[in-house]
Order: sequence, then structure tokens, then C-alpha cells
Amino acid sequence: MDKSTFETKPVINGPMHVSLKHDSAHKHVTGSAEYIDDIPEPIGTLHGGLGLADRAHAEILSVDLEAVKAAPGVVWVITAADIPGENDVAATGQHDEPLLATDLVQFHGQLIFAVIAETRDQARRAAKLAKIEYRDLPHFTDVDSARENGAKLVCEPMTLLRGEPETEIEKPPLRIQASMKIGGQEHFYLESHIALAIPGEDDDVTVWSSTQHPSEVQHMVAHVLGTASHAVEVKTRRMGGGFGGKETQGNQFAALAAVAAKKLKRAVKFRPDRDEDMSITGKRHDFRVDYDVAFDEEGRIHALDAVYAARCGYSADLSGPVTDRALFHADSSYFYPHVKLKSEPLKTHTVSNTAFRGFGGPQGMLGAERIIEDIAYAVGKDPLEIRKLNFYGQPGSGRTTTPYHQEVEDNVIARVVEELEASSDYQARRQAILDFNENSPVIRKGIALTPVKFGISFTMTAYNQAGALVHVYNDGSIHLNHGGTEMGQGLYTKVAQVVAEAFQVDIDRVKITATTTGKVPNTSATAASSGSDLNGMAAYDACRQIKERLVDFACRQWKVDKSEVEFLPNRLRIGSEIVPFDTFVRAAYYDRVQLSAAGFYKTPKIHWDRKAGRGHPFYYFAYGASVSEVSIDTLTGEYLVDRTDILHDVGKSLNPIIDIGQVEGAFVQGMGWLTTEELWWDAKGRLRTHAPSTYKIPLASDRPKIFNVKLAEWSENAEPTIGRSKAVGEPPFMLAFSVLEAISMAVASIADYSVCPRLDAPATPERVLMAVERLKNMS
Ligand code: MTE
Ligand code: MOS
Repeated sequence: MDKSTFETKPVINGPMHVSLKHDSAHKHVTGSAEYIDDIPEPIGTLHGGLGLADRAHAEILSVDLEAVKAAPGVVWVITAADIPGENDVAATGQHDEPLLATDLVQFHGQLIFAVIAETRDQARRAAKLAKIEYRDLPHFTDVDSARENGAKLVCEPMTLLRGEPETEIEKPPLRIQASMKIGGQEHFYLESHIALAIPGEDDDVTVWSSTQHPSEVQHMVAHVLGTASHAVEVKTRRMGGGFGGKETQGNQFAALAAVAAKKLKRAVKFRPDRDEDMSITGKRHDFRVDYDVAFDEEGRIHALDAVYAARCGYSADLSGPVTDRALFHADSSYFYPHVKLKSEPLKTHTVSNTAFRGFGGPQGMLGAERIIEDIAYAVGKDPLEIRKLNFYGQPGSGRTTTPYHQEVEDNVIARVVEELEASSDYQARRQAILDFNENSPVIRKGIALTPVKFGISFTMTAYNQAGALVHVYNDGSIHLNHGGTEMGQGLYTKVAQVVAEAFQVDIDRVKITATTTGKVPNTSATAASSGSDLNGMAAYDACRQIKERLVDFACRQWKVDKSEVEFLPNRLRIGSEIVPFDTFVRAAYYDRVQLSAAGFYKTPKIHWDRKAGRGHPFYYFAYGASVSEVSIDTLTGEYLVDRTDILHDVGKSLNPIIDIGQVEGAFVQGMGWLTTEELWWDAKGRLRTHAPSTYKIPLASDRPKIFNVKLAEWSENAEPTIGRSKAVGEPPFMLAFSVLEAISMAVASIADYSVCPRLDAPATPERVLMAVERLKNMS
């Protein structure tokens, strides 16, 4: 075949590093993307309703379900006594989360029973008819009251220690002891939790679950049914958002649906409504950070001693790893010569808090940024100067060791910050704002530049593994499956790009298929931002195996050397011959070449000794920085974000347009957390912010009026990750810190920047107004 022929062949469409659209983008916007509630229901599908406790902490004296059972359409009422296996859905193996409460209620909204009825409406109405008698017990719902009441810890706390903080903290001339309160956050995924269980023969059951962790749902369902995991298949094509809220919280709905489906031999669906979902599933942990920091007149930190107390809710769930990650990120981008950090995972009578984008990291980092801000006001400098003074140094500087004794070896924070400072015209704009504030009595402006450094890997080393399954069919089309789940973040697209790149074929040859425990076993949650790192590599490993067999076959058949076989776009060059990919694959099939492979990957280098507080928990770090400018109205506390500039490091991006989408989305979600999203429990322990009417997530109109988002195009991961990319899911969430700090600067202008306003998060308009008033009274 001559050269001109293959030059006219189609160019490969969609390998790695190309801005390909999300595989489902057109389906998301046209409503044709299938979510679990869109799957055609099997004939006779029944529906679940939830019987919830209306006490925060109480003994259950009696449960009368007669009226529930007699209600129209009711087929069955499930109580703890009906559970064939174990009445437990605790994700961490701590057995502290009953699926259905028996004698003790530990939060308002805890499940006591479930109703199965012909329609969803009948099930929901019937669930309201129970008569339950309680004996109330004392309850406490937040960190302060938990501490005052000597609350238990839900899990073992962690301590990180380096240097000699206890003695060194006495030495520097300056010292601040203060605290910061940081609110929680509702995930507000658009698709609420849902599970559809379809019974099979013997002990088999298939469960469609909106979960980030199909393997765990599988194991949990098996455990509750009292059967083996092999009888349970869990499937997930996509979630309408997860954000960490579907790492463990789907277990209960899947388990209830499966129990009912097996008992009644009919399909069963559980779909809580928004109010139920918000009341009975865990959220981001609120924190209280108490810090004692010593520093010199320049603002250089010498020693830090800090405690990170968290509202964990009634059970452990992921509170251990979440509070650990808060400590791992309590350094943000800063070197602490002497440091002691302690976590305090407090038990409260609220729903058990869980994973949420950043997984405790944002709370730990925000504490560090508040410390920087506090120091800056104390020494009378721009916080940015204090930041630069305290950044981790380059290898050899003696300023690279983290509080967990891992060295920061890939530090690009100084470069990211310097570039952003220049491109956003930070210095000139800051001066203009200082000038503006002098002459503006009501509207005040603020600007802040904050950095991000985020450790990538599950801190539980075992979770850093993944599997994939790749089939090449004999028509040259490819079937891709892996353990990662799709929640809108574009993971499926990115992994398909890896496969397209490996075989040098157009992306539409690669069929992306639903995640299922039947194809790839023992997977980890799609979490810790590691989805594409892990599953991309596992898929690549599967492709590599198939390609090796194909190359061997080409060598045999064409009698050429390996070096003579080349994968070109949609075709191969074998010796001097050009063979279309599908022709070649069919020939390989006829030669009985195995065209399917299971791939596997485990992250190298990482280890962690929690007791000793030492190790190398993170494979690498992702970096970024943002500058935000805000205006506040000092008479009402309202504010606007006038402009945000972001420079974010995703290594060599697997898909720049998807990554920019992640950065923008994460920033806005972070901004919501720090400004308008406020969770509020009343004296009875009831969550009163359980619907969009009372819980305010950002609107399109809340976005920065000018929003410049750029990826650090020069960046490449120093580690051999897939395509030298870096994880992107969570790190940009923390870019939103600049909004809070800019609001803080605008408030500080009231007292001529002489005091740090110490705004707690979320900085709702009420809180901003109160901070303004506080400063007015001081000056
Ligand atoms: N993006 C969208 N659109 N929807 C989501 O639910 N979850 C975030 C992030 N980005 C999320 C998202 C969280 S919490 C994580 S851990 C990562 O995506 C998980 O996916 P990844 O590991 O593939 O990045
Ligand atoms: Mo993300 S909080 O790790 O699911």
C-alpha cells in the first residue's frame, strides 16, 4: 500500500489530552441519559416508603404498625426482625449503624421500619401512620455541646507530630490563640439516592444503585441478606452527581430494596424524596479548629499546635479517614517547623456525616489559611506576603517535610502563585481596592489570592487498586468496563480516551458500559479524586496485554520483527503493509488470539503508619491558586463576587475541557459551602434546612461576574501516572477560599485592616453584617 493511501485515512478522533466532549453531554441536556428512575420497571415493581424516627435521641418503648399494614396498597412492612442476615450497614466494619433501629434512636430521621406498597405514594402515606412511643434521652447536635457533654469519639483520633512544638511555641516573639468554626455542607446532587432490586433465582439479586461504590453496596447487601457476595450483582451506569454523598450512603436503600425483593419475589424500588434524602443521609463534617501559633515579626511560622474537632454524627461511617485527611491538609501549602495536630471526631445526635469533595481536606486547609490571615493582620501585611514566606521550599531547602513526615518533592506552588499574581494583575488591583475603600462609605471591596496543595491517594493504602475489563470484538469494536463510576465528572470519557489511544482507534469504537460488580470485582469507591489515575491505568494494562498478543500474532503471520509492527490511527503498519484495524482484528480472531483481558493497577510508592503518624500516604500533590475580588454591602451584609482568576495544575491534562469543567464546578461548589450554604438543626435536633427553600446553593447568578479559568499548561506529573496527568476532582474545590478571604478583607476595611475579622464559614450575609457591626463598634 502506498503512503498516500494511509495519509487520507481518517485521523484518530479522541485520544488522550484532547478536549473531547463528555460521552453523555448531549444526553444530559436532552434528557435521554438514563438514570435509575428512568429504567423501565419490571412488571409488578413495588415501592418503598421510609418510617423515620422523630426524636434525636430516645429509647424506643413500643412500635405499633397496625395502621401502616392496613393502609391501602401496602404489601409488607419491614422491621429489624425481618432482616435475614445482619441488621447493619456500617461501611467501616464497626457495626455501629443498624439498617433499622430496634431499641435506640440516635438521630432525628433514623430509619425504624420500611413499607412496601404497590405505588410510591401509597408507601409514603402508609409510613406516616405508625404509632411509636419513646423515652427521650438528652441529645447534643454540634461540636460545642458535644464537648460540653463529654461526648464519645466515634473512632480513634489521630495525632501528627514533628519537631518540638511544646517547647518551641514559647520562643517566638508573637503568638495567637484563636479558633474558627467551619460549617458542613449538603451534597445536593441533582439525582437523590435510589435503588432498584430485581430478584433472581436461588439467592441471586441484582441491584441498580446510585452509588460511587458498587462493590461496597454488593458486600453490604450480601451481609444484610445473609448470603455470599457472589449472589449479588450491583450495577451503576451513572449518577446524577455524587460528590462523596454516594460513597457509603446508598447502602441502606439498596439493602432495604434487596431484602424486600427477595422476600416478595418482585422488583422493589426505593427513592427517597429530596426532604428525606437531605434529612437522613450524611453531609460534610462541620469543624471547629482551635489553634495556637507562634511566629516572628516578619510573619514566619515557627510552631503550631492545633485541634480539629468534627461533628461526626451518631456513627463512625467515614469520619476516621475524613478527620485524618483534615490533619493531612492542615498544612495547606505551608511548612511548619514544629507542629502538633490532633483530631477529635465527636459523636453527636445527628445523621452520620460522610465524604464530601475534599474529604476533610478543605476544613484542615481552611484552618491554615485562617492562621495565615490572622498572622497577616497581626504584622500588618498582605496575607499573600505571609503565604509566600511560609510556602514549602524546593528540595534541599530544609523546608519540605510535612507534619506526616512525607517530603514535598513536586512543589510548584510558588510558580503557580507567581504566574497567577501576574496574570490577574493582583498587585495593581489590590492597590485600587485599598483606594476605593477609602472613599466608599457603604460598598467595600476585598481581594485575596489563596493557594491549593492537595495530596492524591486514598490514605487507606489498600484502596489504591483498580481493575478493568477490555474486550475487542472480532468486528474491531471495543467493550470497556472498569471499577470506576460516572457521576458527571467525565471519568468514563477519560478512560475511553486511554483505550482509544492504546489501540489508536476513534473513540466511538469504544463502548462505555455500566459499572458492575460482575465484571470487575473488589473495586474501591470512585473517590479521593483517584478515578482516572487508577482506572485509567487498569484499562491501559488490559489494552497492553491484548496489544502484546496482537503484536505477537502480526509477527507470526507477517513474518516480521516486533519493531515492524506499528499501531497507526485505525490501522496497523506491519512491515511495509498497511492493514485496517478491523481487518487485522478479524484475522487475529481466526488465528485464535485471545482478544479480551482483565487489567489491574496498584499505586506504587505509598505507605502509611497511622499510629506512628509517619509515612508516604500520597503519591503526588495537585496544586492550584485563585484570586477573587468581591464587593460587600456594609448595610445588609450582601456580597457579589466581581471577578475570579484561577490557575490550576492537572499535570498533562487527559481532557482539558472536562478538567476546566471540574475546576469551575468545584470552585462554585466550594463558594457555596463558604458563603450561602448553611445547615441548621433546631432544639429538637431536627434538620430544618432540608429543601432548596431553606438551603441555598449557588445560582448561576452567583458565579463570579468575570471568571478566568486556566490550566497550568506547562505542568506534567513527575510520577508516571496515566499520560502524566493529575487528579482533578477535589483539589479545585479549595480554590474557593479566596472568596471567603476577600469578603474578610472587605469587612476588615471597616477598622482600617487593623484586626482580622475572623469570619466563620459559611459567611452568610447575616454573618458578614454581624462582623461589620463588630468592627464598627470597635473603631
Ligand atoms: N463532578 C461531578 N460533575 N459530579 C460529582 O459528583 N464528584 C467529585 C468530583 N467531581 C463529582 C464531580 C468528587 S467528591 C470526587 S472524589 C471525584 O469527582 C471523583 O471522580 P474522579 O476520581 O474520577 O475524579
Ligand atoms: Mo469524593 S469526597 O472522594 O467522593
